[in-house]
Amino acid sequence: MFSLSRLATSRGVILGQQVRACSTIQHTIKVAKRIDETREKALLGGGQKRIDAQHNRGKLTARERIHLLVDPGSFREYDMFAEHTCSDFGMDKEKYPGDSVITGSAQISGRTVFVFSQDFTVFGGSLSSVHARKIVKIMDEAVRVGAPVIGLNDSGGARIQEGVESLAGYADIFLRNTTASGVIPQISVIMGPCAGGAVYSPALTDFTFMVKDTSYLFITGPDVVKAVTNEEVTQEELGGAKTHTTVSGVAHGAFENDIDALMSIRELFNFLPLSNKDAAPIRAANDAWDRDVPNLDTIVPLESTAAYNMKDVMLSMVDEGDFFEIAPDFAKNIVIGFARMDGRTVGMVGNNPKFAAGCLDINSSVKGARFVRFCDAFNIPIVTLVDVPGFLPGTSQEYGGIIRHGAKLLYAYAEATVPKITIITRKAFGGAYDVMSSKHLRGDKNYAWPTAEVAVMGAKGAVSILYRKEQANQKKHEEAYTDLFSNPFPAAVRGYIDDIIEPRTTRRRICEDLKMLESKELKNPKKKHGNIPL
Ligand code: HXC
Repeated sequence: MFSLSRLATSRGVILGQQVRACSTIQHTIKVAKRIDETREKALLGGGQKRIDAQHNRGKLTARERIHLLVDPGSFREYDMFAEHTCSDFGMDKEKYPGDSVITGSAQISGRTVFVFSQDFTVFGGSLSSVHARKIVKIMDEAVRVGAPVIGLNDSGGARIQEGVESLAGYADIFLRNTTASGVIPQISVIMGPCAGGAVYSPALTDFTFMVKDTSYLFITGPDVVKAVTNEEVTQEELGGAKTHTTVSGVAHGAFENDIDALMSIRELFNFLPLSNKDAAPIRAANDAWDRDVPNLDTIVPLESTAAYNMKDVMLSMVDEGDFFEIAPDFAKNIVIGFARMDGRTVGMVGNNPKFAAGCLDINSSVKGARFVRFCDAFNIPIVTLVDVPGFLPGTSQEYGGIIRHGAKLLYAYAEATVPKITIITRKAFGGAYDVMSSKHLRGDKNYAWPTAEVAVMGAKGAVSILYRKEQANQKKHEEAYTDLFSNPFPAAVRGYIDDIIEPRTTRRRICEDLKMLESKELKNPKKKHGNIPL
């Protein structure tokens, strides 16, 4: 039955629905517009003027850097709408969506990575509490999923207006850097200022790289240095790329510009496993694993004190001569870096007779130790090339603590459980013989070239001690000592080296061993953690 009141009611409902639908659509359009506008604003960071200033300094913007670093179209940004929460100093009127850091996940060569990129155009990239929370969010997720974090640093440090909240934010990051250490690889690239306590986040990560002329790292700037110590020093001298890659060893490489840096980081990333649960990546190479390397037969000079470059040895034996050297300009008497053998990532360590005769000193010990520990933490086999006349003697080394620092390298090799392959190319003298991945420190495969000399020390030094009172016959005694010790036999007859190999076959032997050692199982005793000499 037709009912007028019912009709009126139902019409009212329809009308009401239409009105409500209309206002919902309007609301939706408004929200969509706001989303678009906010995104657009976020994309502009601190505005075009500041972007231009960034470009005029020869620097890319935070977003441009991310887009160069990761695979095209792979970046998924988080927290683009996050805003700082400070209302002091009129800050409530100056807000930028995303605040001063861009964060998210992406892919490099199709593998997951988490990235943060500080935006200098927003409050000088300074660290607010929300900025810190954004970084902490990706770090936590990176650990959960097992993928590396790359931080692109360009920041004026703590957000001055936020005071202690900013300091708390730094500490939250430092804590994550520490707990993630050895779980996921962490890489820092310094692409602008990085001063004050802020420097400790990069310092806690596995690798720190800098861009020449546009980046610096120091705990206090030149003005404070002048006030406290009366030293006059420029920003560049105090904490520029040259200082940290040649003198302090704080940074592991310097690049010409932003583009060079980002492209190089992609290369490094391709050598690394994603986490400590991941095997080192394998990448097929157009380079026969069993090829002979004939130039190695003659690379060691006949004269035992003549120099040669261990880097040449490395380059000729690894896949396609592709070697990513770490810290090439610091402690050049040891060479470290990543390469591939039959497609497998390996960590290469070698004493370099071209510099300081390849001796071990404070800097080379620390440089080597940190690298060996990285490789061990991330399942990367270690290939060690030995030509070491011993530890560097002298007061500056003893006063500087060579005992403590040399022990770091010893400790690192001793605790490492990854496959360890060692080749003694020439000298392996004294304590340095033990340290450099010897059989006694659980070296899996230890080889010597025919040119190897394994002894407590060189002939001259030994004779000067043993025959101190017999000045006349020093030459004769030296020859006898050389006959007895300056060859690989004393070590070979005792099984301290597994074989004396022709240098040209070294690549083949290493590739065979790496394959065999893939199933190696070795664990250290259960403990909370060891106490490496620091
Ligand atoms: C808030 C900052 C800022 C900061 C820079 N800005 N640093 N805002 N907090 N820490 C702002 C500036 O006001 C400016 O805003 C913009 O960023 C660019 O800065 P400029 O000075 O114009 O740039 P430039 O001349 O290139 O100099 C860059 C700079 C300088 C060298 C970084 O800004 C500077 O010295 N900043 C302070 C550095 C500092 O002392 N930070 C605290 C360190 S202690 P407008 O609006 O003009 O664009 C620290 C403690 C951490 O970080 C402790 C952790 C445990």
